[in-house]
Amino acid sequence: MNSIYVVAVDGPAGAGKSSICKEAAKRLGILHLDTGATYRTLALGLLRKGVDINDDKAIEAQLDKIDVTIGFEDGRQIMYLDGEDVTGSIRTGEVSMAASVTSKNAKVREKLVALQRQTAERISMIVDGRDICTNVFPNTPYKFYITVSVEERARRRALQLKEMGVAFDEKTLQQEIEERDHNDMTRDISPLRVDPDAVVIDNTNITQEQAVELMLSYIGK
Ligand code: DC
Repeated sequence: MNSIYVVAVDGPAGAGKSSICKEAAKRLGILHLDTGATYRTLALGLLRKGVDINDDKAIEAQLDKIDVTIGFEDGRQIMYLDGEDVTGSIRTGEVSMAASVTSKNAKVREKLVALQRQTAERISMIVDGRDICTNVFPNTPYKFYITVSVEERARRRALQLKEMGVAFDEKTLQQEIEERDHNDMTRDISPLRVDPDAVVIDNTNITQEQAVELMLSYIGK
């Protein structure tokens, strides 16, 4: 029996996927691969090159010239753009929006899905994203969909920004979340959707600990 396994997790932005997956990975003793970070890194590369992110031809002309690499240090995922550690630079609002737009491009997805599959080839991982159950690892027996209401996601984001001392408008926050959901769910290629085989975890009214426990109980390891 092959002892290398993948736990596939999909869900919208801000549903707490990353924190839940990080903790679950720790308890399972495996790595956590956040695939959104790969789309963010490529989007940052395109922005740095001054590419019009709404121009598919311009994006595709640059794809071979942008090197996206994933590393792990003490279990922590590090993203490299052309050899530079950009792990801390890919979390801005500008990069979020650019990643949401450029991830609609088929060639962008082809490049990054290949990288994601190759990364999880030799070692067990929890992989989270939007199309992991439906497209990247459709054959894994461990599939989850983590979701949270838009209102609760806006509330959590507002708390984070308040803690960071960043000014925000609550209504705009909610609109941004809805816009990203809409982009992710309505794109032609690999839209965000619930895989029929996935266990749905609604994280609106449960704690992170409960979500992790629930996930581990289904995995049964
Ligand atoms: O999870 P995140 O917010 O870091 O993802 C950034 C963007 O990348 C998101 O708007 C959609 C895209 N994405 C995707 O298309 N497929 C994935 N598997 C992961 C992310």
